[in-house]
Amino acid sequence: SIASSDFLRHVESMAQLPYGAGKMSHLNAVILGEALATEENDPVFPSPDFSAQALISSPQQYMNMYKRSVEDPAGFWSDIASSFYWKKKWNPMVYLENLDVKKGTIKIEWFKEGTTNICYNALDRHIEAGRGDKIAIYWEGNEPDQDGKLTYTELLAKVCQLANYLKHVGVRKGDAVIIYLPMLMELPIAMLACARIGAVHSVVFAGFSADSLAQRIMDCKPKIVLTCNAVCRGSKVILLKDIVDSALVECTKNGCSVGLCLTFENQSALSRGATKWQDGRDVWWQNVVEKFPNKCEVEWVDSEDPLFLLYTSGSTGKPKGVLHTTGGYMVYTATTFKYAFDYKAPDIYWCTADCGWITGHSYVTYGPLLNGATVIVFEGAPNHPSPGRCWDIVDKYKVTIFYTAPTLVRSLMREGNEFVTRYSRKSLRVLGSVGEPINPSAWRWFYNVVGNGQCPISDTWWQTETGGFMITPLPGAWPQKPGSATLPFFGVEPVLVDEKGVEIDGECSGYLCIKKSWPGAFRTLYGDHERYETTYFKPFPGYYFSGDGCSRDKDGYYWLTGRVDDVINVSGHRIGTAEVESALVSHPHCAEAAVVGVEHEVKGQGIYAFVTLVEGVPYSEELRKCLILTVRNQIGAFAAPDKIHWAPGLPKTRSGKIMRRILRKIAARQLDELGDTSTLADPSVVEQLIALTDK
Ligand code: PRX
Repeated sequence: SIASSDFLRHVESMAQLPYGAGKMSHLNAVILGEALATEENDPVFPSPDFSAQALISSPQQYMNMYKRSVEDPAGFWSDIASSFYWKKKWNPMVYLENLDVKKGTIKIEWFKEGTTNICYNALDRHIEAGRGDKIAIYWEGNEPDQDGKLTYTELLAKVCQLANYLKHVGVRKGDAVIIYLPMLMELPIAMLACARIGAVHSVVFAGFSADSLAQRIMDCKPKIVLTCNAVCRGSKVILLKDIVDSALVECTKNGCSVGLCLTFENQSALSRGATKWQDGRDVWWQNVVEKFPNKCEVEWVDSEDPLFLLYTSGSTGKPKGVLHTTGGYMVYTATTFKYAFDYKAPDIYWCTADCGWITGHSYVTYGPLLNGATVIVFEGAPNHPSPGRCWDIVDKYKVTIFYTAPTLVRSLMREGNEFVTRYSRKSLRVLGSVGEPINPSAWRWFYNVVGNGQCPISDTWWQTETGGFMITPLPGAWPQKPGSATLPFFGVEPVLVDEKGVEIDGECSGYLCIKKSWPGAFRTLYGDHERYETTYFKPFPGYYFSGDGCSRDKDGYYWLTGRVDDVINVSGHRIGTAEVESALVSHPHCAEAAVVGVEHEVKGQGIYAFVTLVEGVPYSEELRKCLILTVRNQIGAFAAPDKIHWAPGLPKTRSGKIMRRILRKIAARQLDELGDTSTLADPSVVEQLIALTDK
């Protein structure tokens, strides 16, 4: 039972720890702010001052809430959901779930039959409560002198104008809308406008190529694509509209024509005159949207009506359309945001993620705005014009909560402390990390240098599929251990299982699964419920399988160890090895390719590709560049291989299966750890590969 689990017992014992009078001297020193977190395994306590003001201020308080959340999920979540506006209250059952494939179709439903609207809850609700003049969004452009802001009232007006326009051009409840925009205010505006009228948004990260965009357009067949003419990132100008044009040509060729492309004129990047245009299909955003009324009736939707689609990589070549619905996602993102960042009304919150990824959905747009927070939307690059840009922005807006990815922490860490220390950063009080395990040295630099040893770090483990945080520190509640995402959020029951799917207890390592549903869980893969069941629920019947490996220490803390499937995590972005391989083999000179992840100092993992060329084609530097370009063009720049390793042949078993284990070792240069190669169809392949290392 929950109450007797190691995890809760441990939290109970932590509750006995005398805060502010720790028995261990280093803990005391950290509490007093006199020492920096230096030792690898030192737990780091929140200061007594921080805990005293925190929403969850002690392990005991967490434990009480956690216990209720898992023993009485219906009661726990319906109490929380009651603080939102529902046009019609949900069915008394609150939730319904089947996570066991043996018992039939996988089904997750929360707040069924309740009707609500997430846009109404994110905007109108605050305005009606008299908070309309509060800043909702501070926008910071690529250059430090480009900025803007919108109050909640102003944001709602813009959302309504766009919603009215969308309705005018025929977008109805349930219709899909593709959004291909950079981090302009128009991106969250577009998401909210769709939500307001019950349309389903599918945001495509503006770093994806025309091919990837076309694939996503063809999957959901939208009436309209929302984009902008161009964007500046650092010193580069990217012509987004040209990419959309190519994608739409591709779609038309495949029988999927999109009749309308609403294009925002991003003047700082490119003028109208310089933008390629197709009359009849392309419309300037500024020419039409502003003519529409700034009030728009809300479309009340069922809790289980779809809110958005977001594609993510899996182990096969085809990205998965993760589908989230309205009510549960709303309650979950808002609640996780509030507690994991200890959010209070005066906070100024900045998440560096792009809305093209789940982090930007849940923790730039929905979670913060549902809490009535002030958010920063940053269009530029974090190292432009200098590696101090982030801290310049922190000081400019007096950011109190700063949420980012380990890859950014590591890249800024390399630039040296002076880029940080020349800024005050006095306003900061909570830091956050997401996307991959944060290595302890990056954790400590983030904590000591960026946070001056005073800001707890919420290392949040979650996924596109989970909608919101699953394992995360609650910053005022318990000590943190650098590199551990700590303990589960309310209502989340993580379990570690062995290869046979048997739950393992105590201190152990295994596959990370979740036992029960939670409100923010995805409900299906768009158009492919079977793949949903096969990927996530069949590997370990009875559980949701995350695809991650994990260990649990003696204190019950969770330590994520990375993906156990064929997915690489590059700078916190999930990339399927199969996707990169299929891009490589599309090049006429590439006969075969095998891609593995390799440790990378800044990106966490880099992409390492073994490539076999077509008979007779010589290796050349030019071809290497060409292959990399092929991947950039087919997926996006972020998926470009870091290394191409020429491979006369690939190590395969007699049944033809590529032995990636061996390739990973060669890529990592761990040549004395290749293991047994005798089962290979042709063991000499390995020698040939080693001979070509660094060639
Ligand atoms: O491997 C885990 C890693 O990122 C994966 C989810 O990727 P995605 O769906 O793109 O969402 C990223 C943002 C939520 C996970 O399966 N991951 C994410 N956060 C962490 C993490 N690994 C360790 N620690 C984290 N805090």
